[in-house]
Amino acid sequence: MSKSKGNILFQLTGSIACYKACNVISKLVQDGCDVKTVVSENALKFIGKSTLEGLTHHAVYTDTFEDRSALEHIALTKWMDLAIICPATANIMNKLAAGIGDDYISTIFLACDFKKPYLIAPAMNQNMWAHPATARSVKTLQGWGVTVLGTGKGYQACGDKGAGRLLEPEALYKEIKARL
Ligand SMILES: Cc1cc2nc3c(=O)[nH]c(=O)nc-3n(C[C@H](O)[C@H](O)[C@H](O)COP(=O)(O)O)c2cc1C
Repeated sequence: MSKSKGNILFQLTGSIACYKACNVISKLVQDGCDVKTVVSENALKFIGKSTLEGLTHHAVYTDTFEDRSALEHIALTKWMDLAIICPATANIMNKLAAGIGDDYISTIFLACDFKKPYLIAPAMNQNMWAHPATARSVKTLQGWGVTVLGTGKGYQACGDKGAGRLLEPEALYKEIKARL
């Protein structure tokens, strides 16, 4: 097997935009990257494990206490060249900024030293994006060395129009590739 063009830890949280993230994952795999996925419990309400396993050829991580090799959350931070949360909910961004580690994604985050690129691609309703808690979290995360990508503006699944849309797959793919 040829060498990977980059080990990417691709993490998904509970947003309608999970379907768009699949497109990005597929592009990265086709490009020769090795992609492992971590999903929040709520992301599993939007996307099935089989889709992610089929796209990445790896088992999906979702439970910190699952019976795999010990301390897998630490091993993943050593394995990865780049981490991204895509789509990132308001909940996960606010949780990370508060230093909480009560699920797989937030526990991995606490084990990162940000010497490797860590990207967050927000996806949420315009009011969630404009909320003072979210705005404060963006600043906190950026201050720690996390790259919080911008959002698109326009139609939102709830019918609103405004900021907070996940960037389009091609733009996300380019943001990732530029940092590998
Ligand atoms: C249909 C539906 C769509 C949702 N889309 C989003 C979204 O795009 N962004 C967001 O921040 N929350 C969204 N939520 C709310 C989150 O799923 C909720 O806050 C959840 O607790 C997030 O959990 P997680 O961050 O652990 O995945 C949505 C909820 C539903 C029912």
